[in-house]
Amino acid sequence: MARAHPTRRVFLVGFMGAGKTSVGQALASRLGWEFCDLDRLIERREGNSVAEIFAAHGEAGFRKAEAQALMDLLQDSSRAHDLVVALGGGTFAQPGNREALEEAGAVTVLLDAPLDELRRRCSADETVRPLALNHNRFAALYEERQPAYLLATYRVSTMNKTVEDVTAAIDQILLSGVAEAKQ
Ligand code: S3P
Repeated sequence: MARAHPTRRVFLVGFMGAGKTSVGQALASRLGWEFCDLDRLIERREGNSVAEIFAAHGEAGFRKAEAQALMDLLQDSSRAHDLVVALGGGTFAQPGNREALEEAGAVTVLLDAPLDELRRRCSADETVRPLALNHNRFAALYEERQPAYLLATYRVSTMNKTVEDVTAAIDQILLSGVAEAKQ
């Protein structure tokens, strides 16, 4: 049975390589909630991979599909509770998406890590990330997005922590409503 928790739906925010998917899956399993990865949802809806969407429609086309998938998810009453969502690295950087999340009363948790660590994790994993292909672009995007990421409800550092450590920290934050590093 799903755990009684004051917060019933959580959105994980953070740059590429932050661990949103791994932590999201582990957190959902720990809480007995459902897990949804926004990128996978977009791929199912569009019938194409993220890389294919970027190649065919550019970043603008991807952002449109991403915003629509997020709006539909937020309006889906069957997914209003007991749900952990891993957003894409750019989702929360888009003002319209942040507004929609805020209007929905969403609790957002930023998974934080230094740039070099994020780069290392992205190259160690087989996901094709069109915006991680260029070294300089990756660094510029990281800098550019920091102010937006800091608007998340809570922030958890993932550096030198296992997926289990991060998951336990988020569980604690959600239970107490007090973050180890509340913004
Ligand atoms: C993106 C991050 C990716 C994916 C897309 C764009 C970004 O998700 O949504 O490639 O703009 O940072 P992950 O953060 O899960 O890699």
